[in-house]
Amino acid sequence: MLFRQLFDPESSTYTYLLADPATRQAALIDPVLEQAERDLALLAELGLMLTHVLETHVHADHVTAAGRLRKQTRCRLVASAQGASCADLHVGHCDEVEVGGLKIQVLATPGHTDDSLSYRVEGRVFTGDALLVRGTGRTDFQNGDAGQLHDSITQVLFALPGETLVYPGHDYHGHLVTTIAEERRFNPRLAGKDRAAFISLMAQLRLPPPKKLATAVPANRACGLVPALPAA
Ligand SMILES: [Fe+2]
Repeated sequence: MLFRQLFDPESSTYTYLLADPATRQAALIDPVLEQAERDLALLAELGLMLTHVLETHVHADHVTAAGRLRKQTRCRLVASAQGASCADLHVGHCDEVEVGGLKIQVLATPGHTDDSLSYRVEGRVFTGDALLVRGTGRTDFQNGDAGQLHDSITQVLFALPGETLVYPGHDYHGHLVTTIAEERRFNPRLAGKDRAAFISLMAQLRLPPPKKLATAVPANRACGLVPALPAA
């Protein structure tokens, strides 16, 4: 598999490029609108054809490039059945998305949001904002639920082989990647804590709202293409 990790410094978002070297078919996970030209240039340089954009969830901190990339490349947009209705393909737990010869397994990992998905392929799992490096996504908006997030992480993600590489949706501390075994042992929100302790910890975070919450969520429900204003 051809693989690249890309970063948007403004929102600290990771975008991932996955491609099948034999067919040159490629997917982007969580592309950011402001980085669309960068991502298209990289695809062109590597001789890849974008066939799919996979969203881990409807984001609150950046606007997705999905709609723009679909317009330019005719790729298919993949999202949760609970996610953006403008997606071409709505997927759920244990579905598989084929990108050339790559088989990407869908894992439902709700809790950060009710539509959160992780994607697993060839020893890697892309966890969106469910599981971060030594952290987790927040659970205080977009139908977030700390108990559900605890179940998603401990029963779905932590059930994967320990050596699985975990690529998160964001990082704010300079980390790029971790493993399931590392997070089982060292994630400070989960290691040595039970479900009730996790729920109470998440209730006490009191984080400020994301800067783009009011604009990003409605834009992302429209795949990043801000709905046209009604005629005056
Ligand atoms: Fe998020």
